[in-house]
Amino acid sequence: MINGGKPLVGQISVSGAKNATVALIPAALISNSKCVLENLPLIRDVYVLKDIIVQMGAKACIDQSGTMEIDSSGLNRSHIANGQVKELRASYYLLGALLARFKEVSMAYPGGCDIGLRPIDQHIKGFKALGAEVEIEHGMISLKAKKLVGSDIFLDVVSVGATINLMIAATMAEGTTVLENAAKEPHVVDVANFLNSMGARVKGAGTDVIKIMGVEKLHESSYMVIPDQIEAGTYMIAAAAIPGGDVTINNVIPKHLDSIAAKLVEMGIEVHFNGDSVRVISNRKPKSADIKTLPYPGFPTDLQQPITSLLTLSDGTSMITESIWEGRFRHVDELKRMGADIKVEGRVAVVEGTDGLSGAKVSATDLRAGAALVIAGLMANGETEIFNLFHIDRGYENLEGKLASLGADIRRVKY
Ligand code: EPU
Repeated sequence: MINGGKPLVGQISVSGAKNATVALIPAALISNSKCVLENLPLIRDVYVLKDIIVQMGAKACIDQSGTMEIDSSGLNRSHIANGQVKELRASYYLLGALLARFKEVSMAYPGGCDIGLRPIDQHIKGFKALGAEVEIEHGMISLKAKKLVGSDIFLDVVSVGATINLMIAATMAEGTTVLENAAKEPHVVDVANFLNSMGARVKGAGTDVIKIMGVEKLHESSYMVIPDQIEAGTYMIAAAAIPGGDVTINNVIPKHLDSIAAKLVEMGIEVHFNGDSVRVISNRKPKSADIKTLPYPGFPTDLQQPITSLLTLSDGTSMITESIWEGRFRHVDELKRMGADIKVEGRVAVVEGTDGLSGAKVSATDLRAGAALVIAGLMANGETEIFNLFHIDRGYENLEGKLASLGADIRRVKY
């Protein structure tokens, strides 16, 4: 429940990056020893992954500060039970990890947010190039290899998931793997750094060519995940949403926020970086702006939905082009219930700025749609009731607590 209209003022801290964490946990399994991961976000996807690896025989525990200890020496299953893998997309990283560790894995097709077709053909193409036989039958994917051998793999599309999965799978392959047209997202670099901390030899992560020189074995490691670029961006947008906002967001990596900062500045919002903090000040109704989502370092698709909410009250017409996920406009119908003027045609949404949104009952259709509706609720007159919070809980740690600490009138209601 949100009572809108209150500008956000104060300081908050960003949690560890969800999309890095959900790859680090599976990656830890290939070490066959102990790993300590620090600064993990306390979100549902992390708890689900922990349960999955415990069911497979690993020991894992996480404390309230986000430190997870994983001992994968007892991992004994290359067949992953069906149920929970469907709850999150990132369970596909178990394919790369268990292929590396056991040369064999079988798992149900992964789930995740419903934001359009989510093929994994590039993952499969890469696993095959490394020497795996792949079978897809009755919703199950099975991979089997006598041995994994390094290979040159050119990804047909820039895919975060395929880049990370193939880096993990190739870590202990014989010889060198070269991934071309690789994704450059911060979490790709984070996973490469973690693999290297366990003794892997991954070079070039953060560019579009990554080389993985196979090693025979890995060792224990202690590693701290990077701050969440998308969580930080979400709060930057929330800070800009109501004139009078003045929010300092701590524990950020400024470089990761360049594209969102540039867009907010274009919209007339003040953005100041200072060390590992960013301060966002809103003195005015935002100007309209055109946005096109692109792979990193372009404007992230994961912030497209939240920034759409902000543009609904801008001073003109904005054109939003979603070039990554064709189905990522399901938040639009909910925003319209609140008085937004948005037309969607294929992959383009045209947003006409209006004078105000009004609170309504709306439903989160996916994780970032949920964040978009929370921002719209903060901007709206009156009360907004958001349903299906489990989507938000998958990826934002204590969203309502952090916003309430900035002065938002927001509370979670259990029915
Ligand atoms: N694609 C293919 N074939 C593949 C893989 C991807 O055609 O084998 C296409 C997709 O259809 C899409 C594009 O390539 O059009 C990019 O997909 P990508 O593989 O990069 O996405 P992903 O790895 O499945 C991750 C994040 C998403 C984020 C995208 C893009 C995780 C767990 N998920 O998904 O995050 O939108 O990268 O940056 O890391 C979110 O956090 O809300 C979220 C959906």
